[in-house]
Amino acid sequence: MATATAPTFDKGLANTVAAETQMSFIDGGKGVLEYVGIDIDSLARNSTFEETVYLLWNLKLPTRAELDAFCTELRAEYMLPAEMDALIRQFPRSTPPMHALRTMISALSMFDREADVNTPEANRRKALRIVAKTPALIARFDRHRKGKPFVDPQPDLTIAQNFLLMLNGELPTDAMAKALDVCLILHADHGLNASTFAARVTIATLSDMYSAITTAVGTLKGPLHGGANEEVMHMLNEIGTIDKVDAYMAGKLERKELIMGFGHRVYKAYDPRATYLKTFAKQVAADTGNLNLYEMSRRIEEIMDKAVAAKGIFPNVDFYSATTYYSLGLDLDLFTCMFALSRNSGWCGHCIEQLKGNRLIRPMADYIGPHGVPYVPMAERR
Ligand code: ACO
Repeated sequence: MATATAPTFDKGLANTVAAETQMSFIDGGKGVLEYVGIDIDSLARNSTFEETVYLLWNLKLPTRAELDAFCTELRAEYMLPAEMDALIRQFPRSTPPMHALRTMISALSMFDREADVNTPEANRRKALRIVAKTPALIARFDRHRKGKPFVDPQPDLTIAQNFLLMLNGELPTDAMAKALDVCLILHADHGLNASTFAARVTIATLSDMYSAITTAVGTLKGPLHGGANEEVMHMLNEIGTIDKVDAYMAGKLERKELIMGFGHRVYKAYDPRATYLKTFAKQVAADTGNLNLYEMSRRIEEIMDKAVAAKGIFPNVDFYSATTYYSLGLDLDLFTCMFALSRNSGWCGHCIEQLKGNRLIRPMADYIGPHGVPYVPMAERR
């Protein structure tokens, strides 16, 4: 019989390995992120979001025929049930998009007959539906709150092209669609981050995939997890012009305030997701007349490099995705929804992975309250 090891308290679970995964590998010291062994920079430069999702779910790159078949399956699931459209029209227009998204993902389960079927085949089909339908959910909610008519997805377009079409009501340029596609690749999976862990905890109870993804969206919403790129844009807007960057940064650094979009719990070297995005962000910013934002970002990076790079603080993926999303015309409060749109693929993959060798995830709490307290009748309590 194996000897039970004494439980240890690990606040934030920072030193606890709670799952095995074959999808992504991170070496924070060296600044490495791989999906199924392939370097993230190669994927960002050469792959597409659809191919990356196939890779994460099948643990291999697809052949041309496999990718075509996969895209056909995804595209068949782009449309929302008509009842979902009616439901979205009932949402208060002032609802923050992440609240709307959490509710919409949850609501999707009511229109899926397989919602409670937990076979690998049914879960794969549900994963496809969630990834394929989320762009329409986000775009429809955004148009609803702006009082604009819904735009239907087109089955011959990619996820990135379709999302921008449904959001803006016009086809994006190739460069715009490519920019979004790169951001989606970079955010697809990232080890056992907080929202992925939350999804695995939910599916491990043998609940269902919609419940797991709803849990994950709620977890991603927190500012310690998914909200930093929105904060980067607020900072750039607050600074305003490049001539004000130096004074703004000097004040921030003197007051020892955090600069949003810098630093990472895991990466103590340059975030590998930011390398290509940085070059790409420049191109998108130039194409859309937002080069000033990019130049402000570069100046901030130069100042931070001198001030804190020695501590292992570098730009993270959020720093340049902020200007990219802004250049694509996205409202700031949609930035975290973009993260969810992409990370859906990782969350669903982790749910399927968890169920392969499932065990209920149930850590312990260290009880720090009193013992032996007598029950005092109501009349005698003070
Ligand atoms: N700006 C300025 N200084 C910073 C920053 C920053 N963004 N991040 C860390 N530092 C400094 C800390 O003040 C600390 O300095 P000290 O040693 O003099 O006290 C040192 O660098 C080490 O920082 P820690 O707090 O130990 O780093 P930790 O790993 O706990 O925090 C975190 C990581 C939360 C990401 C932090 O860097 C931060 O708040 N960054 C800003 C928010 C942000 O961009 N988050 C997005 C992360 S990426 C993602 O979620 C996709």
